[in-house]
Amino acid sequence: MQELPLSLRDRPLVVRTSTDRCERQVEPGGIVIRPAVSQEQDEIVTFVRSERMNPFDLDWRRFLLATDRSGIVATVQLRHHGDGSRELGSLVVRKDARRRNVASRLIGTLLASAPARVFMITGAAFAAHYRRWGFKPIEPLHAPWPIMRNYFLGTLGGIQSWLAGRRPNTLAILFRNGEVAGSD
Ligand SMILES: CC(C)(COP(=O)(O)OP(=O)(O)OC[C@H]1O[C@@H](n2cnc3c(N)ncnc32)[C@H](O)[C@@H]1OP(=O)(O)O)[C@@H](O)C(=O)NCCC(=O)NCCS
Repeated sequence: MQELPLSLRDRPLVVRTSTDRCERQVEPGGIVIRPAVSQEQDEIVTFVRSERMNPFDLDWRRFLLATDRSGIVATVQLRHHGDGSRELGSLVVRKDARRRNVASRLIGTLLASAPARVFMITGAAFAAHYRRWGFKPIEPLHAPWPIMRNYFLGTLGGIQSWLAGRRPNTLAILFRNGEVAGSD
């Protein structure tokens, strides 16, 4: 795996929270977290689909990106479903930038301005990782319909993986209602 240069690894990420979506200031050697812009729609779709994530509902308006001079380093989005439910999704970090807290910082930035009640679908084996943001597993049948639908689509993808000889990723639905992480 390609290592990031030390200067980049230890450097704090620069977070842009301007409401001006056109603002784009990528500092030399740095990673910027900022909302996506319309011109990035195709790149976002390609980036997310490259990891066999949910290929639907990839609207740039919902996306927060981490970028560097070479382009997108990581993506996350908050899906807005028709029934009012919100789903954190499309969390992908470029392979050479993983294990550097990029995903954690993206999630923290997204949730800082998100409503308290957020769902997400992830590998059941990683559910405990998301407790720090207050996420806890719930029964799929207790989730709102759009979340349940995406969960079953993901499960279907897992069955296809299994049929293709790949190890299936057992999924879980997580929910946070704004409680402080760690409380039961
Ligand atoms: C999962 C992913 C986004 C993590 O990105 P990252 O920037 O490396 O994450 P961070 O550095 O903030 O945190 C690393 C931790 O994420 C954990 N993690 C959480 N969810 C994970 C997942 N679904 N798959 C793999 N690792 C995951 C790892 O176990 C690791 O914890 P550890 O260091 O204690 O072992 C990245 O590995 C990736 O893009 N994977 C492919 C797409 C994917 O599975 N997305 C998750 C959908 S919910």
